Amino acid sequence: MDGNGRWAKRRGLPRTAGHTEGEENLAAIVRVAVTRNVGWLTVFGFSTENWVRPRTEVRHILGLHRRLFGRVEELNQLNVQVKWMGRPFDTPGARTPKYVQRAIRKAVADTAQNTGMVLTVAFDYGSRAELVQAALDARRDGEIVSESSISNHLYLPELPPVDVVVRTSGERRISNFMLWQIVGARVYFTERTWPEFGAAELDAALALAAS
Ligand code: IPE
Ligand code: MG
Repeated sequence: MDGNGRWAKRRGLPRTAGHTEGEENLAAIVRVAVTRNVGWLTVFGFSTENWVRPRTEVRHILGLHRRLFGRVEELNQLNVQVKWMGRPFDTPGARTPKYVQRAIRKAVADTAQNTGMVLTVAFDYGSRAELVQAALDARRDGEIVSESSISNHLYLPELPPVDVVVRTSGERRISNFMLWQIVGARVYFTERTWPEFGAAELDAALALAAS
């Protein structure tokens, strides 16, 4: 969900205001995606690289994730199941504070019964860390390292292959996001920043996925 900072800068607002707007927009896009019968929506909320940002900005983004994972009532009304993927909280280098961990666990548990769209939030997520972990876990389980053993040891092995990747804010590149899972995916690039990404853009991305 790229471009929150640019969205704010263009309006003479602090970057944090852009992140707040981005969180609101995610809630809106989830509602639209449900009406479009999207089965799986996976968003990159915070990466393993993002911790180096200024402390006040990181703290603000953490608070927004608590708010996001706190939208349980809304998500239950939409029949949306929440999942999280990222570095396990107990691994070296993982820095997710306890209050965010609690919000994540609660959202996952309290929406587990829902049968509609699966919303996965990647938080403290990096594709390379995920793949290293998958290879280590496969070996720990006594499996030979193969495509299927790695697939089975990803953070969320149940996620289906990705149909379309959306990159907002004019960045024409892929970052450290689901590199294993996006093989064969379409890529939808848009100049719009994440807070500006609306229903029409989602529909265009979905059309690309179906083409
Ligand atoms: C995305 O917006 C939010 C996070 C990475 C957490 P950015 O913060 O990357 O916004 P830009 O790229 O500076 O515009
Ligand atoms: Mg950015």
